[in-house]
Amino acid sequence: MTETITDTRALDAQAVRRDFPILQQETNGKRLVYLDSGATSQKPSAVIEALDEYYRTYNANVHRGVYRISELASERYEKSRVKVQRFVNARSSREIIFTANVTASLNMVAYTWGRANVSRDDVIVFTEMEHHSNIVPWQILSGMTGARLEFIHVTDDGYLNEEDVERALELRPKLLAVTAVSNVLGTINPIKELVARFHEVGTTVVVDAAQAVPHMPVDVREWDADFVGFTAHKMLGPTGLGVLCGRRELLEAMPPFMGGGDMIREVHLDRTRYNELPWKFEAGTPNIAGVIGLGVAVDYLSELGMDRVRAHERELVAYAMEQLAEVPDLRLFGPPPKDHGAAVSFTLADIHPHDLAHILDQENVCVRAGHHCAQPLMERYDIAATTRASFYIYNDRDDVDALVEALHKARKIFML
Ligand SMILES: Cc1ncc(COP(=O)(O)O)c(C=O)c1O
Repeated sequence: MTETITDTRALDAQAVRRDFPILQQETNGKRLVYLDSGATSQKPSAVIEALDEYYRTYNANVHRGVYRISELASERYEKSRVKVQRFVNARSSREIIFTANVTASLNMVAYTWGRANVSRDDVIVFTEMEHHSNIVPWQILSGMTGARLEFIHVTDDGYLNEEDVERALELRPKLLAVTAVSNVLGTINPIKELVARFHEVGTTVVVDAAQAVPHMPVDVREWDADFVGFTAHKMLGPTGLGVLCGRRELLEAMPPFMGGGDMIREVHLDRTRYNELPWKFEAGTPNIAGVIGLGVAVDYLSELGMDRVRAHERELVAYAMEQLAEVPDLRLFGPPPKDHGAAVSFTLADIHPHDLAHILDQENVCVRAGHHCAQPLMERYDIAATTRASFYIYNDRDDVDALVEALHKARKIFML
């Protein structure tokens, strides 16, 4: 992957850390070394305060009230939508739909666009490195429509297999579902190039950008994918909130996902006229505080600069991979740092990752252990699980050193 990073001023992780209350705490004299941002990121004070302020001072439903605090809530809710639109450079805020999480975003595409457009003669393609949330909806869609599933496998070093990509193109699939960044291998996929190639054969492309939007500059216009999903809680925002960014013509043509309040223009006993975009897809009272919090999270990241975030993490992941490679019996997964996002997976001899994570926890080092909701990928590498350290803006080399030191302790405990 070739990357152009323009703003290369180093990011001061220690200064960033001061903005995160949870990172100020110590347990048994050890500071919290949080290396699980791939699962969920920590939240800066600004986001926590925005949630607090909403509930304390202008808690009201949106789009309904004609009184001051409801208008304020509606205004901030819609302002956040514009912030998110600008953050990923979507064409219009009407293309930004708030959902419950990226899982809901991907399911929405399957249940609405999918049911309306996919039939038994069609082929759906996804890759072996997808999170379950970008696998199971397509299996369900295949079950509902009879469409055939085809897969792009991964190479030993964690890239998409080019021969499978070629073969998939020949099938002229109806849909390609692909992750921008693997949450296990860390692989950064060439989304812009994949979209262009699959568009040429008439394929609709859905991108799971859950591990990309928090960590690097993402320009959805440049990607040109048809649907892009991401999730607020991995990008400093609150839980229970996701985004589906869709191409306007497709969203206009799609039937709604859920029916109810807010998504309607007018309702009669026997028929309903739906609301316009984006509200057509936002049935019921939304996650108002969450959306406002996400707006603040986006401000925070924008102020840091996503170029700098990416540069910081690339440097840190390179250092982590170099240090981890020195630990005897440790097997690293995924591509080299230049093509690697913020997550680094490994195994250590035959220690079960859960046992390893438990020992690291005693050193106050938080890592993820398990299949990471990517069981097909575990099968591909013939392993049950990995340990995953995932990095973010508040991590630095000290955190890597703490991880490596804890791994050495674990080796001693297991008498390696
Ligand atoms: C690549 C990827 N896709 C999807 C998800 C699911 O995110 P959520 O649980 O917020 O829907 C995750 C979270 O672990 C992820 O890493």
